[in-house]
Amino acid sequence: MNIAVIGTGYVGLVTGACFAEMSNRVICVDIDQKKIENLKNGIIPIYEPGLDTIVLNNVKSGDLSFTTNIEEALVKSNICFIAVGTPMGEDGSADLQYVLKVADSIGRHMDKHMYIIDKSTVPVGTADKVRATVEGVLKERGSNLTFDVISNPEFLKEGAAVADFMKPDRVVVGCDNDKAVEVMRELYAPFTVNHERFISMDIRSAEMTKYAANAMLATKISFINEISNICEKVGADVNKVRKGIGSDSRIGYSFIYPGCGYGGSCFPKDVQALIRTAQLNGYEPKVLSAVEEVNYAQKKVIVQKVIKRFGSDLSGMTFGVWGLSFKPETDDMREAASITIINELTALGAKIKAYDPKAAHEAQVCYLKGNDAVEYVDSKYAAVHGSDAMILITEWKEFRSPDFEEIRKSLKNPVVFDGRNQYKKEKMAEMGFEYYQIGA
Ligand code: UDX
Repeated sequence: MNIAVIGTGYVGLVTGACFAEMSNRVICVDIDQKKIENLKNGIIPIYEPGLDTIVLNNVKSGDLSFTTNIEEALVKSNICFIAVGTPMGEDGSADLQYVLKVADSIGRHMDKHMYIIDKSTVPVGTADKVRATVEGVLKERGSNLTFDVISNPEFLKEGAAVADFMKPDRVVVGCDNDKAVEVMRELYAPFTVNHERFISMDIRSAEMTKYAANAMLATKISFINEISNICEKVGADVNKVRKGIGSDSRIGYSFIYPGCGYGGSCFPKDVQALIRTAQLNGYEPKVLSAVEEVNYAQKKVIVQKVIKRFGSDLSGMTFGVWGLSFKPETDDMREAASITIINELTALGAKIKAYDPKAAHEAQVCYLKGNDAVEYVDSKYAAVHGSDAMILITEWKEFRSPDFEEIRKSLKNPVVFDGRNQYKKEKMAEMGFEYYQIGA
């Protein structure tokens, strides 16, 4: 099939590359000239395991190409994915200006029937707006071309996006006619071979499915974080409670890891957007608001532990920070807990020596830009060298079984704050550490 993918962010690029990998002809479009030039030369703007190989291979084979010219891409395609950003607007709702601008361009340049697919995470009702926009432009053109609007939300996890796309848990497709369902079924067939996970439904339900999935996962995280805070108050250990409840198959073990709160490009934005959608439709969501409130507070829990241990004047003190990205295996810093933790500690006078395997550059040039109290170092041991205490924020694999002797010798005080409960409390005590976890 001939596919145009508009937007070469993390979703668009993974989508384009994976469809090309299945021998479709894919043209990825972006307005960012530099990004497109880089992609043509095999320079990938994000770190995502496996993505560089499939981009390079498919550019070489000719199945994947990049352009800034949306018209050229549309003329060569009959399927068009909209995968541009939907940033959080001032009132918490998703800002649709980029999606609707693309819809306008599609209406302007399409020259045959088009399947227009919303891949971006968009509020319920967006497909109708996309349809109205395209119709409006076609009318202006005096054209009687036809098109379908389809909702096909993504469920990709950063750090595992290629694997998730190649072997999806499910492919959700929302549309209003059988022909379009069949086209989508055919398009996704290579990814769902021996693995029937294709779920079709009406458009609004598909749009809502994406928000409901992310809101459910965010709820699990805020729930366990709240339980962890109660555990601390009553002298229970959330690590044991987690296993105790996870063994119930109705609850399950996944997504009940306590920590410094959820971050990333999806959960914070999507929970807020769903709250806003509910409110705009006359419903005040109570659970979702609490999920967000708990998460906001959770990002500060480690700071409170530091203050409890060292007092609220941290001037003259240095903290060695392990991990900056919002989760391991990505250089994404969006809504990362490290931003809150580091800014709060430095506001209290502390200095930070930070190490992250991938995200230090992002932090330095953007998310912690201007915070001169942060020094970026290139190894985990350099971060603790001469520091007063260590704080683990992101659970990268290389932090799982470090040389504890080296850490103890390097720190001024053998104090470790662990925001992801990576180590055994008893062992840390045996090795002479003063060790603080979340909820235990
Ligand atoms: C998420 C969804 O998982 C994905 O399906 C959707 O398409 C996009 O949003 P992602 O943002 O990549 O994916 O990250 P995810 O692995 O879900 O983690 C989100 C955040 O929750 C991270 O900050 C992580 O540290 C935190 N988390 C996750 C916890 O604190 N505890 C857990 O048990 C799981």
